Amino acid sequence: MTGSRPLVILFHSDASDPRWPDAIQRALPDFEMRRTLDGVPPEDVAAAVVWKHPPGLLEPLTNLKLIQVLGAGVDHFLADTRLPKGVPIARLVDPGLTARMSEYVLMHTLALHRRLPESARAQRDGRWDFIHPQPPERTCVGILGLGELGQACAAALSGIGFRVLGWSRSRRSGMAFETYAGEVERSAFLRQCDILVLLLPLTAQTRDIVDARFFDEIRPGAALINVGRGALVDDAALVAALDEDRLRHAVLDVFRQEPLPPEHPFWTHPAITVTPHNSSATNPDTAMAQVTENIRRAVSGQTPLHLVDPAAGY
Ligand code: GLV
Repeated sequence: MTGSRPLVILFHSDASDPRWPDAIQRALPDFEMRRTLDGVPPEDVAAAVVWKHPPGLLEPLTNLKLIQVLGAGVDHFLADTRLPKGVPIARLVDPGLTARMSEYVLMHTLALHRRLPESARAQRDGRWDFIHPQPPERTCVGILGLGELGQACAAALSGIGFRVLGWSRSRRSGMAFETYAGEVERSAFLRQCDILVLLLPLTAQTRDIVDARFFDEIRPGAALINVGRGALVDDAALVAALDEDRLRHAVLDVFRQEPLPPEHPFWTHPAITVTPHNSSATNPDTAMAQVTENIRRAVSGQTPLHLVDPAAGY
């Protein structure tokens, strides 16, 4: 309480599940849930739950104990140069989001492994192209980014028999599959993979990581699934790799500009599958528990779960 007034939770998101604000209010009835700062004394706001907020929104909140970002990736959030200093920032680790992401990656990996894009093109041309089905063990899937989502996708893919390898910028130990780390081990990793899955956070170090040099290092005819962030990939280098048949197909769920502009060449490229950043999404049914727990922890002086390291960018 601030005097006799209840502590305020500020919610801002135009893109999340519309049930969030009511779900937060129901789960935390002793707080007051507000969707704007209109008429709210800034010092009353104890926690902010945000996704793609306007830069500077949180700057006046002098008593903020927690910023809960409503997503797995925090690159948009950290792009705000006017964030209040020293306030813990948590990202969401949502079992529902993780499960939907694993399904999406499994679905598209299977489609690429069973040559569905090639069959669709053959159908359009009225060609009966028999493509011999292969067992999953023959396909090596490389996951770039070994956080919660990368590890869950690796488990799902290994579970149905794919050979899975992982790569991350810094070494991750204790994985149930073979892993590679850093620049020096990257080409040894890329050389082996038939399908590459991008699940890296977007940071200054990973921006444009998938560039012309990356495509020179991949196994010829490999395919790419990008479910991380659009800016991990150099768009022109991707189109060139497809047009030169170094890359067989790309499944893209995330883009530098979203919605993908109507004139963008990805829409009509025959070797690109576009989905509208819906590989996965947070949902209050599965993520509310973490939000509630974090707000309770933050206001009682305990460390919140899944804190972000702003210096690392994730
Ligand atoms: C979605 O893109 C997320 O980061 O949760």
